[in-house]
Amino acid sequence: MVVARVALAAPLLAGAVAACGADAAPSRQLSVEAQKGEAVARRAGCAGCHGGADGGATIGPSWVGLWGTGVTLDDGTVVEFDEQFVRTAVRDPDAQRPEGTWLHMPAFSERQVSEADLQALIVYLRELGPSS
Ligand code: HEC
Repeated sequence: MVVARVALAAPLLAGAVAACGADAAPSRQLSVEAQKGEAVARRAGCAGCHGGADGGATIGPSWVGLWGTGVTLDDGTVVEFDEQFVRTAVRDPDAQRPEGTWLHMPAFSERQVSEADLQALIVYLRELGPSS
């Protein structure tokens, strides 16, 4: 009986492992620095609101495909999603609120997200942008 059960379970298991492998396959190749940024996004809690490389944003806008595009702010001005924009979004989010957003993003001090962490985040978001 035991043998039969194992024999039955084996192909099921193999299928599950194969499926997991497919899910885990990265949808894009991130540089080492961008992978650091991805880890920072998870550790600092950004990913909980913004999701990751495969989308999954909940509270904040997804970052995928945004780099280099124009973001319309709630006062009607259009700014480029670039290094300066991301820097302000993290340090002083209320200074530039994207149009149509009603939730406020918390600011992150240097104690929470160091300069080095912010640099890695910037590289990460750039690599999530449209591949030009
Ligand atoms: C509690 C949820 C939450 C967390 C945590 C959070 N954000 Fe945000 N984020 C938001 C919301 C909501 C907005 C849009 C409104 C605003 O800017 O206040 C936003 C906007 C942004 C924008 C502008 C996006 C756009 O499409 O215009 C960037 C860039 C950003 N966040 C980066 C980060 C980074 C980097 C971190 C981590 C250090 C982070 N966020 C953590 C909720 C969050």
